[in-house]
Amino acid sequence: MKKKCVLVTGGTGFIGSHTVVELLQAGYKVVIVDNFYNSKPEVLKSLKKITGKKFDFEEGDVANKRFMNSVFKKYDIDAVIHFAGYKAVGESVAKPLMYYRNNLDSTLTLLECMKKYNVRNLVFSSSATVYAADNEMPLTEKGHLGTSNPYGETKLMIEKILDDTAAADPEFSFIKLRYFNPIGAHESGLLGEDPNGIPNNLMPYIVKVATGKLDCLHIFGNDYDTKDGTGIRDYIHVVDLAKAHLLAIEYSFNHKGSEAINVGTGKGTSVLQLVKAFEKANNLKLNYEFTGRRPGDLPRLWADTKYAKKALGFKAEKSIEDMCRDAYRYEVNQTKSAG
Ligand code: WQD
Repeated sequence: MKKKCVLVTGGTGFIGSHTVVELLQAGYKVVIVDNFYNSKPEVLKSLKKITGKKFDFEEGDVANKRFMNSVFKKYDIDAVIHFAGYKAVGESVAKPLMYYRNNLDSTLTLLECMKKYNVRNLVFSSSATVYAADNEMPLTEKGHLGTSNPYGETKLMIEKILDDTAAADPEFSFIKLRYFNPIGAHESGLLGEDPNGIPNNLMPYIVKVATGKLDCLHIFGNDYDTKDGTGIRDYIHVVDLAKAHLLAIEYSFNHKGSEAINVGTGKGTSVLQLVKAFEKANNLKLNYEFTGRRPGDLPRLWADTKYAKKALGFKAEKSIEDMCRDAYRYEVNQTKSAG
């Protein structure tokens, strides 16, 4: 039987690269499209080293119509996983036009190519940030939507574009995966989260403090109405998240329409609990201090995972300790290879 071919936009990024590993190891053919805006070419070598498999790579911008038409002409694509997009909440507040232009243009160009070349299956990298602040926990897919930053707005708008496109053409199958907080790294230590500049997110900041690149972790607020006063999130290992994409691709081939699926563990962990777990898992002490709340932060956020289990048969397997150990190993390797 012909091996199905999956186009992965943003496939050298944090979640994209881990998903490419799972796709290759499951026997799919993979075409990666990336412009290295938030990743490095070295990821391609790591993918080869980890999987020993061949894959295709096309460097370019998903928003570029000429480039994307050339990709769809060149490869016999069966499905797409769309990761490419800017994703820093704070940056999106400072540069909204850049976010709307990039994230929406790339998606519209991609969808127009899918329609033109009769590619009907798409898994979209959405986010729990699309849920409004006043939902009850745990968050179900029926939670009402609303967001407070341009990054989140682009995710919401793209979900709406997918819904309307599928309503107009019932042959399309769109799965909108709403990620909670992906952290950790591949156990090889060859793939991981490697944001440019000072990290906005918690785990990339923790690993830089743990390896001495940053002096002190600032815990944003310890006066929330939670057990230890710090914010609660649903952290999920990036490899578990990658496996969810494989299940979503397979599910999409027997599905029509556009639907959202939460991808989390269903468990909440506070910042302080994560810090303590990291110290224990890696046998070290982290330097941290409590500072004021970060504007826009919600006190608590975790997923209802019943539908992911029902629709995809997905259940996250890795523990918080696995996430801490794997994230640290990757950062230590990065430090060594930087010399
Ligand atoms: C987690 C917790 C902070 C940094 C964001 C996006 C979301 C997704 C993941 C893209 C919170 C606390 C953080 C620090 C801290 N991104 N924190 N000190 O805000 O839940 O989600 O990233 O898809 O869309 O909204 O993740 O890691 O920034 O914060 O105390 O230096 O850690 O207050 O409680 P967040 P985060």
